[in-house]
Amino acid sequence: MTKIVAIDGPAGSGKSSVAKALAKALGFLHVDTGAIYRSVAYEALQQDVSLDDEQALAKIALGLQEINPSPEIRSEQVSQAASKVSQYPAVRTNLLELQRRFGRASKTGAVLEGRDIGTVVFPDAEYKFFVTASAEERAKRRFLELESKSIKTTYEDVLKEQDERDKRDETRSVSPLIPAQDAVLVDTTGMSLDEVVRKIKQMVIGS
Ligand code: DC
Repeated sequence: MTKIVAIDGPAGSGKSSVAKALAKALGFLHVDTGAIYRSVAYEALQQDVSLDDEQALAKIALGLQEINPSPEIRSEQVSQAASKVSQYPAVRTNLLELQRRFGRASKTGAVLEGRDIGTVVFPDAEYKFFVTASAEERAKRRFLELESKSIKTTYEDVLKEQDERDKRDETRSVSPLIPAQDAVLVDTTGMSLDEVVRKIKQMVIGS
């Protein structure tokens, strides 16, 4: 049986870097489920499908076979669109099978990162972690990342947009961003990536 490691958490928590490094350290497959929502959003923008049209978006979700490899799915426009697209129950339902198929694709194991892996996609996952950090630290990391890409913004704007996205993700009616009851909370504030990966790997291997 494929071992499933669920890594959930808010934007900027560092979960992507953690999930990637952890998968490598364990020899597991890494599945970025945010990229799946981004692929749907990108396709909707390409096809001029309205982001208010739940049924049309659900149809795109159902037809999705793979993650769009284009770096454009990381743009701010696609980020905002993905956040909207992910609100719709029909879209989420239609992406469940794909996420489960990706997760089971490896014989050894998979590390899946997202918002609802431990609560909805793989509620029976062997290992569940909820990775987070203070809002200020998350905004600081995001601001530095954008700055390194020469994207003009201010720390205050990043913090404000992050608060809006967090609120939307936490309060949506389906699959809100909340830790699974049996998830281990990992607060990465003040911790290096190496420290976080070592800590989580220890819990997976040592158990
Ligand atoms: O992790 P990310 O920022 O790439 O995710 C993009 C959007 O997709 C984000 O606004 C939340 C949503 N998402 C989700 O609702 N459920 C997931 N399992 C993964 C992402």
